[in-house]
Amino acid sequence: MIYNFDKIIPRQGTDSVKWNQQELKDLIPLWVADMDFPAAQPIVDALMQRVAHGIYGYAKVPDTFYQAVIAWSKRRHGFDLQPKWLLPVLGVVPALSAIIKAFTVAGDKVLIQEPVYHCFFSSIERNQCEVVSNDLIYKDGKYTIDFDDFEAKASDAKVKLFILCSPHNPAGRVWTRAELERLGGICLKHGVKVVSDEIHCDLVFEGYKHIPFGTISPEFLANSITCIAPSKTFNLAGLQVATVIAADPDLNKKVQEAFLVNEISSISPFAITGLITAYQEGEEWLQQALSYIHDNYSYLKHYLATHLPALGLTALEGTYLAWVDCTALNCSSRELGQLLLQDAHLQVNVGAMYGKQSDQFIRLNIACPRRILEEGLGRLKDALQPLL
Ligand SMILES: Cc1ncc(COP(=O)(O)O)c(C=O)c1O
Repeated sequence: MIYNFDKIIPRQGTDSVKWNQQELKDLIPLWVADMDFPAAQPIVDALMQRVAHGIYGYAKVPDTFYQAVIAWSKRRHGFDLQPKWLLPVLGVVPALSAIIKAFTVAGDKVLIQEPVYHCFFSSIERNQCEVVSNDLIYKDGKYTIDFDDFEAKASDAKVKLFILCSPHNPAGRVWTRAELERLGGICLKHGVKVVSDEIHCDLVFEGYKHIPFGTISPEFLANSITCIAPSKTFNLAGLQVATVIAADPDLNKKVQEAFLVNEISSISPFAITGLITAYQEGEEWLQQALSYIHDNYSYLKHYLATHLPALGLTALEGTYLAWVDCTALNCSSRELGQLLLQDAHLQVNVGAMYGKQSDQFIRLNIACPRRILEEGLGRLKDALQPLL
């Protein structure tokens, strides 16, 4: 079926974090990573059917859940999974937090690559560990990896884990095989386990290919724990479900125990129905959503080049989160965020959330109907042009 991504469905009054955090009736929220598109029709139908049953007791994860994850990963990414490697969980962030707790002791270090998804910081720090960043290099609108710095940091015996964000939020990179090989090789050499957060793996644009970290070699597979989910891909974040892949039996046991200790493996009947239907019947919707989001990216690129040419736009290889360089404005991202909210009623994510060296950036979520994006960019232009 053909989906209409232009249709605006009001989300005010639906307890949406994105739309209802501010009490502004005319707010345009281009922040928080969920989409303003309804889910694929088969998912809506399956959930309606489940709701109509009327009994919502505790759920047992059925075999079809594992089969759906396996078939999807094989078909879309060439990742051959076995059911016993898969651990259902309430979300990627709860999984990351439990994994950090299980594989570190207080005072250990966890390696990340700033700028990066802000919950990595909180998950590490709440587990009394230290964040060590192999800062990405930003040059000519693109992020790359400083491998010498990565190796220097990974060789610290206190570094126990590397949390890889692949594809990378907010840098928009879809890492190449060569990049992943070098990162993984360094981690193997220094005994650092890799936790590969691949939540954005299905949101990759033409010309790029997501390489699951675990497919690179049997050694990489054995040294890694991978997190995947239908939440970003199919706009199901509120259903709270993810799958963790741990192929090595010892790693798998340890992760399984960590999930039990933290009580995060019991997922809801709606999560089960949503995940199975998404992976089995959501592909047609996803293809159309990706194409629409890419058109939004082209629109954004053209709009900035025309009206705010002093701002830079990072190339978006994957994810629906555009990363805008506002260095020319000469103010901090928090000041900018405040100004946009107060004067323009436009909510964005401020760069400072993602690390110490990205205070001149803002992040825009472009997974919304074009008219919302147009309105948001119009407000951005009106608020920022006087500053330039
Ligand atoms: C890289 C990354 N990991 C995890 C999450 C959130 O995962 P979950 O909602 O499953 O906890 C996000 C959400 O934006 C993300 O960008």
